[in-house]
Amino acid sequence: MRILITGGAGFIGQHLAAKLVSQGHSVTALDTLDDQVHQNAKQAQQRFPGEVVRADVANSATWVGLCPHDAVIHLAAETGTAQSMYEQDHYWRVNVDGTQFAAEAAVRWSVPIISLSSRAVYGEGRRLADGEELPAGIDGGVDGTLVPSAEDDEHRPVSVYGETKSQAENVLAATAADKIPVTIIRPQNVIGRGQALHNPYTGVLAAFLARLKDKLPLIVYGDGTQTRDFVHVEDLVSLIAWSLEYPASVQEGPRILNCGSGRRTTLKELALFAIQASPVDVPLEHAEIRRAGDIDHACADLRRLKSIGAPMPRWSTKEAVADFIRSSWDKGGASSEAWDAALQELKARGLTE
Ligand SMILES: NC(=O)c1ccc[n+]([C@@H]2O[C@H](COP(=O)([O-])OP(=O)(O)OC[C@H]3O[C@@H](n4cnc5c(N)ncnc54)[C@H](O)[C@@H]3O)[C@@H](O)[C@H]2O)c1
Repeated sequence: MRILITGGAGFIGQHLAAKLVSQGHSVTALDTLDDQVHQNAKQAQQRFPGEVVRADVANSATWVGLCPHDAVIHLAAETGTAQSMYEQDHYWRVNVDGTQFAAEAAVRWSVPIISLSSRAVYGEGRRLADGEELPAGIDGGVDGTLVPSAEDDEHRPVSVYGETKSQAENVLAATAADKIPVTIIRPQNVIGRGQALHNPYTGVLAAFLARLKDKLPLIVYGDGTQTRDFVHVEDLVSLIAWSLEYPASVQEGPRILNCGSGRRTTLKELALFAIQASPVDVPLEHAEIRRAGDIDHACADLRRLKSIGAPMPRWSTKEAVADFIRSSWDKGGASSEAWDAALQELKARGLTE
């Protein structure tokens, strides 16, 4: 198959492209090679195992001259939760208009589309006490009261990024769901080799790496008992490749799938995994900071994946963290100053507590 991967030059796109090519497919990337993501755009372009069309998904003109492909995998997006809180118009344009155009192209070509949404559509993880739903923001503790997010849960995004991903899902359903197979995947925090290390709006693990390399204490916001679900990029890529092989049914509407490890890891555990995998030893420090758009708890409910026979995650969080730290250790780009500067920017904009 000839497969169009929007955002194909990015972290997930490069892993996915390598896998699809190894399966005999050919791939085209549609990517702006955004310099917030790519320190070296030329290298990213050369690494991609197919043609790279350097263009903006959210510009309708991009799609006019593009030749038809046999499937569209839509990954291109702006991805910084904190940054989305002040670059709102830009996030709406790229994440929602971009998805609209990708969906329209797939309908025009009459081919399946697989689009990456995010667990951010769920907002704060659900909590139950005595069978009653607790309102978001009240810490129900870790034992037994936290409920993993399932695909049919209500969308309750708490960041502009989450809102744009939620709206992008609506756009996909409205534009394409009754015409072509549509799969929407909601990854939790994806980690693995090749993540952008210099982009201070990516996940906490890249920030930990930067501080480890500078031999600085790892700073955990709050008390560190917040939980996240970390999934290795290879597990996500296996799910995307499976979704291509087994397309959704048009009659049933969009097929929505979680992607995660299905396990909770506290931020404190994450920091310890990172230290254990690195050649240095540094202490942990806590900082009483909360950024707008942050949540306390997240974890994927994987029952739907299991019930439809989709591939289940294979990497443990500890192994996934070690893979990321070890493969990134000798790479340039990680700078603790960039993360400090990004935090100062949020403070200056009144987006921290
Ligand atoms: N990495 C994660 O933890 C995670 C978690 C949940 C969802 N996702 C979703 O997965 C997808 C891929 O994420 P990633 O981690 O590979 O991000 P990434 O930033 O590494 O890659 C995104 C790619 O999109 C490109 N891009 C950005 N704006 C564009 C535009 N307007 N037109 C064309 N290309 C553009 C960038 O240059 C980059 O190559 C995104 O939709 C993201 O929201 C990622």
